[in-house]
Amino acid sequence: ERGSHADYMAKEIDEQPAIAARILDDLVPHIADGSLWRSLEAPAFERIAVLGCGTSLNAGRVIARAFGALGGIPTVSVVASEASETILDPGTLILALSQSGETADILRALDQLEPVSAGLVAVTNNPASSVARRAASVVDCNAGPEIGVAATKTFVAQVITGVAVAVSALVATGRIDRSRAADLTDDLRRLPDLLAQALEVSKGVVPGIVDEVLDRSGFIFLGRGPGVVFAEEGALKLKEISYRWAEHYPAGELKHGPLALVDQGTPVIVVDNGDPRLASNLSEVAARGGRVITIGGAGSTIPAVGMSMSRPLVGGMDRWGPLEAVVPLQLFARELALRLGLDVDKPRNLAKSVTVE
Ligand code: M6R
Repeated sequence: ERGSHADYMAKEIDEQPAIAARILDDLVPHIADGSLWRSLEAPAFERIAVLGCGTSLNAGRVIARAFGALGGIPTVSVVASEASETILDPGTLILALSQSGETADILRALDQLEPVSAGLVAVTNNPASSVARRAASVVDCNAGPEIGVAATKTFVAQVITGVAVAVSALVATGRIDRSRAADLTDDLRRLPDLLAQALEVSKGVVPGIVDEVLDRSGFIFLGRGPGVVFAEEGALKLKEISYRWAEHYPAGELKHGPLALVDQGTPVIVVDNGDPRLASNLSEVAARGGRVITIGGAGSTIPAVGMSMSRPLVGGMDRWGPLEAVVPLQLFARELALRLGLDVDKPRNLAKSVTVE
């Protein structure tokens, strides 16, 4: 039931800090000693390929970055509908991400990829699903039912669960030591508070920003490094429920073409992970009259979220992602859609579970 919330999307966004805390209560005792990974009985691997669609693919990319940045594991991400067995080899472990576990593109990709891989680990919100049934190793991301078509709380749950699995795998396979794993686990434990803080700050600020951009038909989302996938997720959410055009780019790509789109008032939403190179990208936007909206970082439009340089980090969470930055992006998309009179829970043309290719 959505209770006092205006819509399921609002409820599911609000639930994120509590879901994060619940997941971590369950997982934290099993991360730094490697027992979470060992309990999956997954095969040995040299490389990781994440597989998914839409928001689940984005969650997978964050998790892949954790494997890569924290443990030096080569990773690729595979858009399930474009999967081709030529990219895999027997040293590659497939990490399949699917909220529903019933997405046809994933099932079809697994037919192709699994036989030429090291094996399959499924991360899903439905452990009784088709994807889960065909995986020997299944991780329940434990977000509870998600009713809104736009994935929100399941993104957060997939990322936290997947990064916990990554840290546990790295220590269990001797790629990092226990004290490093403990520091990384301490970073994860901070996430419920960071998500709650992001909610509080964003709810105060986002409506005013939406006022200013209500009449705009196109939006640009930028990030650098770990921030890029969050820019992509923000743009996906906006397209999906507000039906406005949204593009995402690594900020460094702007000058290679998309900058031509920017004119007076063009909204440019930036996930600021503290990368000093963002400043020159943003001044290029501002010089053309673009409306820069920054998430995270000192003096940002939506402060106190994102990988602020000032955030005290223990284990290196800045290397895999500013998870709490997704909260203002979700709220921004929802607020804009509501102001346009749209149904945020049931966007046109879309289904919660996509069972056709
Ligand atoms: O159930 P799945 O996670 O496999 O679904 C994948 C996508 O269809 C899904 O994430 C879609 O992109 C969402 N509606 C995005 O909010």
